[in-house]
Amino acid sequence: MKTLKYLFDRNLAWANAIKEENPGFFEALSKQQDPEYLWIGCSDSRVPANQIVNLPPGEVFVHRNIANVVVHTDLNCLSVIQFAVEVIKVKHIIVCGHYGCGGIKAAMENHEHGLIDNWLRHIKDVVRFNAEKLEGLEFDDRHDLLCELNVIEQVANVCNTTTVQRAWKNGAELSVHGWIYSIRNGIIKDLDMCITSNEQLTKKKVQE
Ligand code: CO
Repeated sequence: MKTLKYLFDRNLAWANAIKEENPGFFEALSKQQDPEYLWIGCSDSRVPANQIVNLPPGEVFVHRNIANVVVHTDLNCLSVIQFAVEVIKVKHIIVCGHYGCGGIKAAMENHEHGLIDNWLRHIKDVVRFNAEKLEGLEFDDRHDLLCELNVIEQVANVCNTTTVQRAWKNGAELSVHGWIYSIRNGIIKDLDMCITSNEQLTKKKVQE
């Protein structure tokens, strides 16, 4: 059991099934990756990027962290965005949150959770920015709405990264999208937050 044989067996069966259907699949993919999408999502095991949009390996470049947060000093996330935009030249960056997010819930509570409280601080900021919208709601409704508001905030953060700003300045075709996934029914909802330029970003902020 030390070697997790179960997982190696599953891997072999998976690779064989793909090769049976498409014998050249791995060979073609080993030469290059050319995904059109960068997915920024939650680490939650119930929200696997490729599976929920039903795309095979090679189609989605992925970054995941707790509560799909984009922080301007997070070298990990910023490096993923830079590589995806400037080297892979993805056309779309999707920030996909999910209802029932444990990270968001933890940020709504006042218990101590240890180191992670420093990460959740960013979500507490989202609560502060949107205090009026969240006021007076029952806990579950507030939780759902905060999951959505967090996505919208993180879309704005993606748009404001130096990488995306530079790409737009250079005329790149690059859209940033805000989506939310329901772990209750497996369906993704578009949060009507599709930004393709600074003008649109400013307009969205004014409308809010
Ligand atoms: Co989550």
